[in-house]
Amino acid sequence: MTQPASSPPASARVIVAGLGYVGCVTATCLAQLGHRVLGIDTDPHKVSSVLDGRAPFYEPGLEDLVRDNVAAGRLSAAISLQGALADADVVLICVGTPSERNGNLGLAQLSRVAGEIGDELRGGVRPRPLVVAVRSTVFPGTCEEVVFPALEGAAAQVVSNPEFLREGCAVDDFLRPSLLVVGGTDPQAVGAVAGLYTALDVRPCLVSLRTAEMIKYACNSFHAVKIAFANEIGALCGPLGVPAGEVMQTLCRDVKLNLSAAYLKPGFAFGGSCLPKDLRALNYRATRLDLTLPLLESVMLSNQRQLQRAIQTVLDLPAGPIGLFGLAFKENTDDLRESPVVEMIEQLLGKGRDVRIFDPHIQLDLIYGSNRNFLLSALPHVSRWLAGSLEEMLGWARYVVLTQKPSPDAARLIRSSGLPIIDLVNALTS
Ligand SMILES: NC(=O)c1ccc[n+]([C@@H]2O[C@H](COP(=O)([O-])OP(=O)(O)OC[C@H]3O[C@@H](n4cnc5c(N)ncnc54)[C@H](O)[C@@H]3O)[C@@H](O)[C@H]2O)c1
Repeated sequence: MTQPASSPPASARVIVAGLGYVGCVTATCLAQLGHRVLGIDTDPHKVSSVLDGRAPFYEPGLEDLVRDNVAAGRLSAAISLQGALADADVVLICVGTPSERNGNLGLAQLSRVAGEIGDELRGGVRPRPLVVAVRSTVFPGTCEEVVFPALEGAAAQVVSNPEFLREGCAVDDFLRPSLLVVGGTDPQAVGAVAGLYTALDVRPCLVSLRTAEMIKYACNSFHAVKIAFANEIGALCGPLGVPAGEVMQTLCRDVKLNLSAAYLKPGFAFGGSCLPKDLRALNYRATRLDLTLPLLESVMLSNQRQLQRAIQTVLDLPAGPIGLFGLAFKENTDDLRESPVVEMIEQLLGKGRDVRIFDPHIQLDLIYGSNRNFLLSALPHVSRWLAGSLEEMLGWARYVVLTQKPSPDAARLIRSSGLPIIDLVNALTS
């Protein structure tokens, strides 16, 4: 993440294509920040509404801002882009991307508006490339697949600038943003879009085009999962006579593990003595209460799929000895109960792969009780495959697989071995 390379003039000339919930709020709030904004919409009602100083739909606070900014001459509207691009600095595309019948994203409005921009640009003369920013929600790759071709041969740079506002408090969300993401490859274009928001109290996250497009999907699905999770916990609390609000409010008090970045890093499957056991118990009790909790029921399946993808990645390695770093379910523990690595080893051995395992906290003669039982019942001959030291394992292996985060010293040793590393926990990349 870097800072913008340059900022546009304090007051930029901005075209907002699409005056729906996102576009009209964007256009009006950018005008409020001092930019000169022209909103374009094919719907004459929306255009005349803005020109009359009225919001085309209800959104708290919007009507006053539209009126004030139209009166101040900073906000205007038109039915067509024709002739509007000559002196514009940035075009923000805010057209709709509704669902198609099969669930796919409808890109007809985006294609059409991008085509119109391309036609306008190719037919006119501009002193510098126009910055075209896609603010509509589009799937990763859409800018490259739909907008780039439409602008081919035109003097334009494409940027992704997804919108995060919520209807019902859209003006407030715009003026006090939770997140500002700008994606693209051209530093001038990225800087021009990020610079539109410099008056706001938010630090732009500058990322690649596809990352910017994906972040919007990650955010929306995260929000949906949060709501479904809270609702399923609530559904279970009801018949148990437990106050759901109190449970969730208390859950939210934990800002170390619950409302935090903890557990939000893509990596390996979970395991251990608590998460699988407790999820199973919760789902079993829900079934006995005749409750269907599809989200919570699917979590173990999702985890199993993640493990299978990891196992397949290792199985896809060319033939050769495989060194596994980590046997416990995570680093800094010798707890082997429900460690996903045990299942991975079973499958690798079952497919005839040659493995050695090193875990800095596992010594076979020191583990006992349920820990030992779990390991020996799954891998009765595990002692054959345990390496005595990391050096021994690295000297033997042709590939290294990380199933837990190594210490800085161990990471150094693994890197310096020069062996190809399959980093299942993303420990060495971030
Ligand atoms: N509504 C939200 O809360 C919200 C929040 C964040 C992101 N988004 C995303 O932003 C995008 C816009 O959403 P919305 O709710 O504002 O949609 P909307 O349907 O309310 O508005 C889209 C507008 O674009 C206009 N339009 C279509 N084709 C056009 C063209 N060729 N030229 C000019 N205008 C044209 C339509 O007439 C319409 O007024 C979508 O991708 C949506 O997923 C929406």
